[in-house]
Amino acid sequence: MYRKGIILAGGTGSRLYPLTQVVNKQLLPIYDKPMIYYPLSTLMLMGVREVLVITTIYDFELYQKLLKNGNQWGIKIAYQIQEQPNGLAESFLIGKDFIKDNSVVLILGDNLFYGDQLPSMLKDLSNKEGASILACPVSDPERYGVVEFNSEKKVINIVEKPKNPKSNYVVTGIYFYDSTVVERSSRLKPSQRGELEITDLNKSYLDDNLLNVKLMSRGMAWLDTGTHESLHEASSFIKTIENRQGLKIGSPEEIAWRNKWITDQQLENLSKDLNKSSYGEYLIKLLEGKIL
Ligand code: G1P
Repeated sequence: MYRKGIILAGGTGSRLYPLTQVVNKQLLPIYDKPMIYYPLSTLMLMGVREVLVITTIYDFELYQKLLKNGNQWGIKIAYQIQEQPNGLAESFLIGKDFIKDNSVVLILGDNLFYGDQLPSMLKDLSNKEGASILACPVSDPERYGVVEFNSEKKVINIVEKPKNPKSNYVVTGIYFYDSTVVERSSRLKPSQRGELEITDLNKSYLDDNLLNVKLMSRGMAWLDTGTHESLHEASSFIKTIENRQGLKIGSPEEIAWRNKWITDQQLENLSKDLNKSSYGEYLIKLLEGKIL
């Protein structure tokens, strides 16, 4: 199924102050790359080639400078502004003209997914009708949207940041919706924290029996970067695996090249701009066939 992608990279990042007082959170480094490279790579691994980046008025130009129009990676990237952090579901109102009557996948700019089975699992979800979300077990469910199950393990409810979570499975920051998402989002009312809640949107699909909840297996990792602690942990995680394997996680250049969206020559040109860093050296090694 053809699906467009949205990356939400807005917000004030206030939980990371002073780190994010002048730099947008999703531009911060996760080890050797800007954070937004990871969710962008996740979309590219699923085969998504048309992406809308939603960001703040202050950071708009920086993102354009970093990601350009996507052509260098064989994709198309457009940009729009979220004036205020009015909630995740506002993405679909902002992105209305981009979505048109297409299906869409939203990924949060600060979410990192990792795992061998991930691309095939996401492609599978992408081909389903209605809405699909991924739920992951965590040790602190009260910080997230929590999935509630009945005795037959059927999903019966999703509760945003409950004081007493009914399960340890929480909703991750990747959401697949059909084209009714724009209309459904326009019907949402702001929550007590003044936001259009993605949880309310998911519940609208659940009520219509159109919400598919996929549980992540143990062999996959979902990391978020909302606190100083989790930001550091995410960097350490990427560093550990990259250094051990000699492979990079979340490189748009590599994914574009392996997907044959760019040629050897294009990859060579991209690597020239980066060749003073280990990242650039890595791209050259790919071309030389030193990394399979
Ligand atoms: C948001 C959603 C929450 C979800 C989380 C995933 O939380 O509201 O349901 O579990 O993203 O990262 P927020 O970032 O608004 O606290």
